[in-house]
Amino acid sequence: MSEPILIAQDLRKSFGDREAVKGISLQVARGEVFGLLGPNGAGKTTTISMLTALLEPSSGKIMVNGLDLKAHTNQVKAQMGLVPQEMALYTTLSARQNLMFFGRIYGLRGKELRQRVDEALRMIGLIERADDPVSAYSGGMKRRVNIAAGLLHKPQILFLDEPTVGVDPQSRNAIFENVEALNRAGMTVIYTTHYMEEAQRLCHRVAIVDEGRIIALDTPAALIRSLGGGVVMLGVADAAPENLTERLSQVPSVKSVTRSDGLLKIETQRLQEALMGALDLTNQLDVRITSLEILEPNLESVFLHLTGKKLRQ
Ligand SMILES: Nc1ncnc2c1ncn2[C@@H]1O[C@H](COP(=O)(O)OP(=O)(O)O)[C@@H](O)[C@H]1O
Ligand SMILES: [Mg+2]
Repeated sequence: MSEPILIAQDLRKSFGDREAVKGISLQVARGEVFGLLGPNGAGKTTTISMLTALLEPSSGKIMVNGLDLKAHTNQVKAQMGLVPQEMALYTTLSARQNLMFFGRIYGLRGKELRQRVDEALRMIGLIERADDPVSAYSGGMKRRVNIAAGLLHKPQILFLDEPTVGVDPQSRNAIFENVEALNRAGMTVIYTTHYMEEAQRLCHRVAIVDEGRIIALDTPAALIRSLGGGVVMLGVADAAPENLTERLSQVPSVKSVTRSDGLLKIETQRLQEALMGALDLTNQLDVRITSLEILEPNLESVFLHLTGKKLRQ
């Protein structure tokens, strides 16, 4: 990686005696779309709040463009844009009026302000509706105004915190396209989500976060490859023979089998072959199957594999 645009070292944050972030270290390359993927409560918002200087870390260090965030807070903040999960828009005002207001907070004035607002409105595809009151917008359109607000001061790094939660599919797609276009134009993007499809589609690299820690960090393809061929969850009746686990682990393409009560977790090298072999064997042994779930290799199954939990509970 060439000189990373952002480096975080061993970030921690406690709220009272509860440690929400327990030592997060990461480096983001210039021009990268970097994802923080994890379930609710994992510590994603706390992490990006620290990275954007909204929240002071309990300990740890953040460098942006070679500058220490703590020592150069204002200079670094000017290089970053944040699209928070919740952002208050004035619903009686239009999108344009809202953005003019936010732009003034960033210190923009006059012609430059008007130009930046126009550019941002065009970027998010709302220029035609720019003068309608925000109260007439869908949830997704409001989100897109939030994105525009985060872009007004032309940041080098844009942080988006779960930008598609509660958004209609059309706006969701528009948001994806916005992120992709911004990134093509050179912007570094840090994107949090609990939707693995989004991380898989948008992010060059993904940090999987759980309970305040990064438990895996790589490209989506490499994370998925590390899992092998996918997982079969096979429910069997209580009467299934004791040695079923061992017999299954000898089926071609089966990597490992673990059994907890009536549920067998079969990790595979090649999903199809392992599945057919496992079903053949259960037939031969006359084992009654009570459930069958196939987990294709994707980031969801990576998460399940690493934590034993589902991303969305
Ligand atoms: N201001 C706060 N005060 C106390 N606890 C907090 C605060 N902010 C977050 N937490 C707790 O920290 C943990 C991580 O929260 P958060 O960073 O919001 O997770 P995520 O964004 O991944 O859903 C959660 O247990 C949450 O309840
Ligand atoms: Mg959050």
